[in-house]
Amino acid sequence: MDKVKIASSVLAADFGCLYEEIRKVEKEADLLHFDIMDGHFVPNITFGPEVVASLREKTSLPVEVHLMVDNPQQWIEPFAQAGSDTVIFHLETSFHAYRLITSIKEKGIKVGVALNPSTSLENLKYILSQLDMVLLMTVNPGFGGQTFLSECLPKIRDLRQICRERELFFDIEVDGGINQQTALEAVEAGANILVVGTAIFGMVNPQKAVRKLKEIILKRKE
Ligand code: DX5
Ligand code: ZN
Repeated sequence: MDKVKIASSVLAADFGCLYEEIRKVEKEADLLHFDIMDGHFVPNITFGPEVVASLREKTSLPVEVHLMVDNPQQWIEPFAQAGSDTVIFHLETSFHAYRLITSIKEKGIKVGVALNPSTSLENLKYILSQLDMVLLMTVNPGFGGQTFLSECLPKIRDLRQICRERELFFDIEVDGGINQQTALEAVEAGANILVVGTAIFGMVNPQKAVRKLKEIILKRKE
């Protein structure tokens, strides 16, 4: 497996000084993860494309947007304009997943599909070869700081197995409740991108927290 990447989730940062918060992790993190919530698909509201665009200008880190919104189709263009490198939508929100995938790719942007903990991998079967990434939620979406659902570990293993069997190269990202302990479990199960919010921005030294997570993962391989 390629090097494991850490995606810092801005949701856990101090919204009063987002740029300063991002600067704290810029040297160590591999990606910035923006959780876009609309108060419908999930019971919380966060930020829109203007916030992403303005932070995008100030950072060299690749930006991924995790759309937790009803009707994701209407947000592809605004988030593409905002400079997103990857757009991830929830399969549960889309009647026309294939059309959505195509419209994201047409923008020259990577495409990811997210699944809630209870959504089966079966639903990915006919679109998997079109995807750059699958995001497996390891908490119920909507809030940071929740406990990792260990019931999701077999699902990560199964997806890695499918990836090998079908000789596909999509990333397997996990999101929710990742800390030093669960990071190891998720990577051992087959994840290669970890979304981390609270266990980075909730720490006194976020940069050190990312470095420590990477060290733990690297040591595992020795
Ligand atoms: C939850 C979001 C996550 C969240 C993870 O719905 O998708 O990206 O920021 O936060 P932690 O790492 O605190 O569980
Ligand atoms: Zn997320």
